[in-house]
Amino acid sequence: MVAFGCNYTIFGMKITLLTERQRARASAWVLPLFENEKPKGRHVWQQLGQPNRRIVDPYFSHDFHAKDNEERLIILPKPPRQLILLGLGKKNVWTLRKLTLLSRRIVRAAKRHRASSLAFHLDDLAVPGIGLPRAAQTVVENLLLADFEFTQYKERPKEGWPKVNSVELITGASREVRDAVAMGKIIGEETNECRRLANTPGSDMTPERLAREAQSQGHGRVRVRILNEAALRKLKMGGILGVSRGSDNRPRFIVMEYRGARRGAAARKPIVLVGKGVTFDSGGLNLKPEQSMQDMHMDMSGAAAVIHGIAAIARLNLPINVVGLIPAVENMPGSAGFRPGDLLKTMSGKTIEVLNTDAEGRIILADALTYAKRYDPSLVLDVATLTGAAMVALGQRATALFATNPKLEATLREVGEVSGDYVWPLPLWSEYEEDIKATFGDVANLGKSRWGGAITAAAFLWQFAKEFPQWAHLDIAPTMTTIEGQELSKGASGVGVRLLVELCRRLAPARRRGGPKR
Ligand code: BES
Ligand code: ZN
Ligand code: ZN
Repeated sequence: MVAFGCNYTIFGMKITLLTERQRARASAWVLPLFENEKPKGRHVWQQLGQPNRRIVDPYFSHDFHAKDNEERLIILPKPPRQLILLGLGKKNVWTLRKLTLLSRRIVRAAKRHRASSLAFHLDDLAVPGIGLPRAAQTVVENLLLADFEFTQYKERPKEGWPKVNSVELITGASREVRDAVAMGKIIGEETNECRRLANTPGSDMTPERLAREAQSQGHGRVRVRILNEAALRKLKMGGILGVSRGSDNRPRFIVMEYRGARRGAAARKPIVLVGKGVTFDSGGLNLKPEQSMQDMHMDMSGAAAVIHGIAAIARLNLPINVVGLIPAVENMPGSAGFRPGDLLKTMSGKTIEVLNTDAEGRIILADALTYAKRYDPSLVLDVATLTGAAMVALGQRATALFATNPKLEATLREVGEVSGDYVWPLPLWSEYEEDIKATFGDVANLGKSRWGGAITAAAFLWQFAKEFPQWAHLDIAPTMTTIEGQELSKGASGVGVRLLVELCRRLAPARRRGGPKR
């Protein structure tokens, strides 16, 4: 159970809210300023003290103009010993996206200067048109995201890893802001845990291990069942079994159930989240070349997002029912492995004509989508590192979105924008279904032409999602890893967690959107 102010931390960042009158204890102050703006007298100098002011004041007349990305470190004679000035650029173009990056810059700058405790004013950073609670949530999430480093497999340096242990946020702190901070902390922590799972090497993160990780989530509020190979055979999940045949690491099917809806609530039909859990994708017999294979331990990023999305939803006590389904396999070449030309009989009864063993994600997802039917879901959403083609289409800054209706598409775009997991739509038109017609089976796992690979993959999945009232597919291959300029450490981005939580928050009944359990 997590209560606000309680010190449950995986990564040990303590976040405290202070009012203007309380004195911060941090060893470093961060002063984010808009272009040509001076620190607002009263509140800043009250905290920094007059002796320090004599050192700091001259910076504003000569040296520091608060242009976007400008940064100065000032060493002060009296505590706090460090002052970090950060330029925000022009105030009239301040957005939630910029606040996201700023929050990360704060932590990165602190780590660079080896400041482990920080303080700054939250309310100055408010974004026009967006309430302070949402801004506060964004700040907290991104402070945590920027603090994360995947160090488990490295020798610890003598001086330790640079790390921000405590942040004091000065704010007029309404109750809504407090709740938002608590929520941001949970979401930030779960996103980082998602990154930890995805970054773990393939030899260690096997289907069995992934299943164990899922089992330990949700603070006892998520029911987790693991289906082994025998169970998969009983269910006739020929897709998952087919893809897994080349590997000694045997497949699992992970089922997570969170029942948060209040009794009798209209939202009792669950949302089903499906995550691609390929713990390593060598390509199979259609072996990937060196460059393409290096990141393929992260081919379970969709699974990790579903596991930690549900963990966050449970910790937040959202009043909604959510099911997570994860087919977990390793795609390896092996003498028993599946082959191009194979016809795999899926749980749905449809056969898949395998034309390329590297298009394995859609094959295992087909069985998971069929399994989802037993929940009579109100919405099914899958999250998968499905195609390199989605990266070709969008670059690495947006997840590709496919949805069965315009309203769902609009909701997901908005949720993406607000949560920071940016998505962009591609078409789901019946014309594309022509491209995946098979010769000897029902559906081919490869499009007929080399164009539009992300769309043909979505059209393939659609064949197994026709009975759902609503279905959406997120191809997260483009956003699987962080990129230069995002102010995050290298490796898995944790994409999906923030989006799934924000979506479920919106779909939960309006009056009580949940908050962390007190
Ligand atoms: N896991 C890959 C897709 C991928 C590529 C994810 C890059 C993250 C970064 C997927 O299984 C795959 O190999 N897809 C093939 C499909 C093709 C054979 C139709 C691809 O994109 O090349
Ligand atoms: Zn593949
Ligand atoms: Zn794959």
